[in-house]
Amino acid sequence: MSKDTAMGASTRREFVASAAGAAIAVPLAAASWNAASAAEISGDELPLITNGLEHLGIVVADVTRSATFYCGVFGHGLFREIDPPLRYYVMTGKAYIAIGSREGVAPKLDHYCVTVEGYNREKMDAAIKALGYRALPRGVALDPDGIGLQLLEDPAGLTDTNIPADRILGRGYGLVQPYGMDNVVLRVSDMDRARAFYDKFFAKADARADGEVWYEAADTVIRVAPQAAGQAPAFERYGIRVGPCDFAKVKDGIEKLGGAVEGVDGDRLYFTDPDNLKVELVKV
Ligand SMILES: [Fe+2]
Repeated sequence: MSKDTAMGASTRREFVASAAGAAIAVPLAAASWNAASAAEISGDELPLITNGLEHLGIVVADVTRSATFYCGVFGHGLFREIDPPLRYYVMTGKAYIAIGSREGVAPKLDHYCVTVEGYNREKMDAAIKALGYRALPRGVALDPDGIGLQLLEDPAGLTDTNIPADRILGRGYGLVQPYGMDNVVLRVSDMDRARAFYDKFFAKADARADGEVWYEAADTVIRVAPQAAGQAPAFERYGIRVGPCDFAKVKDGIEKLGGAVEGVDGDRLYFTDPDNLKVELVKV
């Protein structure tokens, strides 16, 4: 799903890059036009000029158990917050999983993040509120079901409040080589209402026969799907791209680490972590 990138936002981003970046030779008239386009980025531009999914945050029952599990799956790119409360960050290629715990909050996928070029939080928050949506601290916009979309200036990465953490597992390698995020799946209560929200943030949407709408964010995908009967709307699953691997061995490893494999479908493996949070591995 990730290879055919969005034209709208990508094309504009390339124009901006060529205006700001100097290495591309363009005719004078085009250069002037591009410079004008770059100047027009005001920090609150919608749909977003995004480089795609960057990280996600999860709330778990036991942050050390969860970090140990994810290090076992993805390897030893582990950081932690300098000051309490304990919070871990497991690198998954160019992306990462932020692992925290909240008093009285059951384990869940909490929010996901895309990076934005020319992002200005103050202006963007004002634009989001002007549209009638909620803007929370740290750049999180809530969709109509309360699912959090975080915006950070590109390039983002870990903040300077993190330090490398000691190895949490004895073994040296993960089960897979992670490259970065591939997708998130959001279950919403009202597709029309959700689409009204996501159409404003992401330029290109692709309606699927099963009722889902897939929004492209650079080379990653935000899948908006109707909620299942009897279930609450939620950030349901996230997908991580991984390198060549033997899914039979990966399945065995995940189960030894305390996860459960739900199934394999071609180049995709679906599992749940020790908190029953849903993850997808996408072999590329
Ligand atoms: Fe975050």
